[in-house]
Amino acid sequence: MQIFAGSSNQPLAKKIAKTTKSTFGKIDLSRFSNGEARVFVQEKRVKEKVAVVQSLSLPTDEHLIEYVLLCDALARMGAQDITAVMPWIGYSLQDKVFRKGEPLSAKAVAQIIQVSKAKRVITLDLHNRAILGFFDIPVIDLSARSLFIKYFRRSVNKKTFVVAPDEGAVKNSTSFAMDLGASIVYMDKKRNLTSGKVDIIGMSRSVKGNDIIIIDDIISTGSTLIETAKALKHAGARSIRVAVTHHLHVPGVQGKLDKSPIDVFVTTDTIANNNKSPKLVVLSVADLIGEELRY
Ligand code: R5P
Repeated sequence: MQIFAGSSNQPLAKKIAKTTKSTFGKIDLSRFSNGEARVFVQEKRVKEKVAVVQSLSLPTDEHLIEYVLLCDALARMGAQDITAVMPWIGYSLQDKVFRKGEPLSAKAVAQIIQVSKAKRVITLDLHNRAILGFFDIPVIDLSARSLFIKYFRRSVNKKTFVVAPDEGAVKNSTSFAMDLGASIVYMDKKRNLTSGKVDIIGMSRSVKGNDIIIIDDIISTGSTLIETAKALKHAGARSIRVAVTHHLHVPGVQGKLDKSPIDVFVTTDTIANNNKSPKLVVLSVADLIGEELRY
């Protein structure tokens, strides 16, 4: 197999190539003077079986087009079995028509991804499993949970509580708490759909003197985690650590996290970033993806 990568996450793609003992295909990625994406595969031959690594991170729309063009170039050079390795699928949060007049963006994007003729998609911790149904090809939804369990396991004690920051996180957080042997706390969150403002209305039990682990799939504006952490601190939590699969690295958000009551922020490399925050711990998903590609 050959691994190719768009510009969104080359460090992860190189790790995947290493762990699968595959060659890392050379491509020239640049822009035409009118701003359009210019993709140029520099390999003389392209294998039948290739994987294309591209997260739909910021700038999302540019990364999406670049991915489609890269797959088109590879197919024209003989690739027949293309696996889209898309650790983070942008627009996943728009998985419903929340208000009349809005698009079903996650489905529209799934259809664009399929234009690439990829035979399958490998992703991680999909925001909503209903998104699987927006694709007509298999989507393998891996999870970073085993990495987080390994990271936290040694530090769990009787005072450790796992917190589900909102209704959508309840199922995942509950089974995460069970795997860790910790208790679970549910938060009641409300988000204003127009302003995006998040309010924590309540929590299911006292957290006074407890060590908290908040688990969530995505951090975008940071409001959910920061408001949850503030409410927990206010309620007497002793320490607050967070595990989030996809840190979208929206500009300015890490600074807000660093000033928040969160002590440690554990995330993965589904989205590339050079953030050097002392609170940030980044675990790699390369082996998880590599294992699936070898399968
Ligand atoms: C919500 O359903 C998600 O699981 C995350 O909690 C949410 O997307 C986080 O967004 P933000 O960082 O903007 O609060």
